Amino acid sequence: MFSEEKLNKVKEIIARYPEGKQKSALIPLLHLAQEEFGGWLSPETMDYVGSLLQITPIEVYEVATFYSMFNLKPVGKYLFEVCQTGPCMLNGSDQIIDYIKQKLKIGVGETTPDGLFTLKTVECLGACGYAPMMQLGKHFREHLTPEKVDAIIAECRSKANAN
Ligand code: FES
Repeated sequence: MFSEEKLNKVKEIIARYPEGKQKSALIPLLHLAQEEFGGWLSPETMDYVGSLLQITPIEVYEVATFYSMFNLKPVGKYLFEVCQTGPCMLNGSDQIIDYIKQKLKIGVGETTPDGLFTLKTVECLGACGYAPMMQLGKHFREHLTPEKVDAIIAECRSKANAN
């Protein structure tokens, strides 16, 4: 369940849309829920969001399973979302994905045993001019090379150790 404060935010989001069109608030509410409930959307969380909007669970699942920005299983503290669409692929995203797999000893869709890293592949993130690239949290990491990947992993580990 959302806190009182988040429920106020929910009301504010729903009020952005015309009467009877509350379903339009689904994507922002799923983002809010994902942020609030550990970085992923469990079936219970999706059902809860559906109940807030008075829509059926299937309407929520349809949206949540369509967009790669919603995680349907738990993810690590640092989620590497590597673009694998054409322009990134032509610029070496396959090699970057393989490098991350080998470096972190996980496959795509997996999380390291320490819970720090998850590797995910996604479709075009609209930053093709900076290929190969990935999204990490709210930021893009661009023109990836194995050296840059090493630096990003080291940066994440040092941030995690500092917390
Ligand atoms: S193809 Fe990778 S960002 Fe567009």
